[in-house]
Amino acid sequence: MEFNDVYNQERVTRKFTNRKVNEKLLAKIIERAQQSPSLLNSQPWKVYILAGEALAGLKKEVKKQIDTGVDPHEDFAKMLSLNWESFPSQNLAAVGASQPYFFHNKMDLFEDSNNTMFNAQDVVFLTIPKASPAWSVYDLGIFSQSIMLLAINEGIAVMPAHSMVSYPELVRKYAEIPNDELVGMAIGLGYKDKSAEVNDPKYIPARLPFKKIYKLIK
Ligand SMILES: Cc1cc2nc3c(=O)[nH]c(=O)nc-3n(C[C@H](O)[C@H](O)[C@H](O)COP(=O)(O)O)c2cc1C
Repeated sequence: MEFNDVYNQERVTRKFTNRKVNEKLLAKIIERAQQSPSLLNSQPWKVYILAGEALAGLKKEVKKQIDTGVDPHEDFAKMLSLNWESFPSQNLAAVGASQPYFFHNKMDLFEDSNNTMFNAQDVVFLTIPKASPAWSVYDLGIFSQSIMLLAINEGIAVMPAHSMVSYPELVRKYAEIPNDELVGMAIGLGYKDKSAEVNDPKYIPARLPFKKIYKLIK
């Protein structure tokens, strides 16, 4: 695909079809994403892909936790503050990244999609060592973006979601992740269910006016 087409398509998918991504294609995407830059080439990331019965088992146990009211407790909360500073929190409110706003108060659509892991048939879980500097979180973000752009280039839809790492001990169990790794993020990969209301383009949130984030000083 043309780079601009790939970039312009980089929008999240909150409901996938039941079609699985070809295993070799998944491996090729991750292998190519390894070319991402990282501080001093430290490459702090590791990748665990869950599919099939393992993913179904995880989804079932996560749903049970949600239904019994267990609070989300992602690993990053132990490493960094999860509080918003005023600039991003104002953005959440102002540009409609606030969930009730961009979901036109249809929060059930948003919640159902998150609680069922977007019906993703392949989920990439990304880890870094527990004892990591903040740079490794930055590096993991770059690596994630590489995975998403490479996937889109192959006609695959993407869903980065912290909600899929809200119960890290379960992810650790199903993906056989060692205790000394932080379960950082998850990206669902698959094919967009175009008939699902939750994927309607009207739920794509706007961005801030360019001038609010940009300054050129000479
Ligand atoms: C680190 C990260 C975590 C996210 N977590 C969630 C999530 O848990 N649930 C969800 O529905 N969307 C999640 N998203 C998607 C964002 O809400 C979405 O990218 C943003 O609102 C912009 O929408 P767009 O990508 O369609 O332009 C996440 C995105 C990122 C980068």
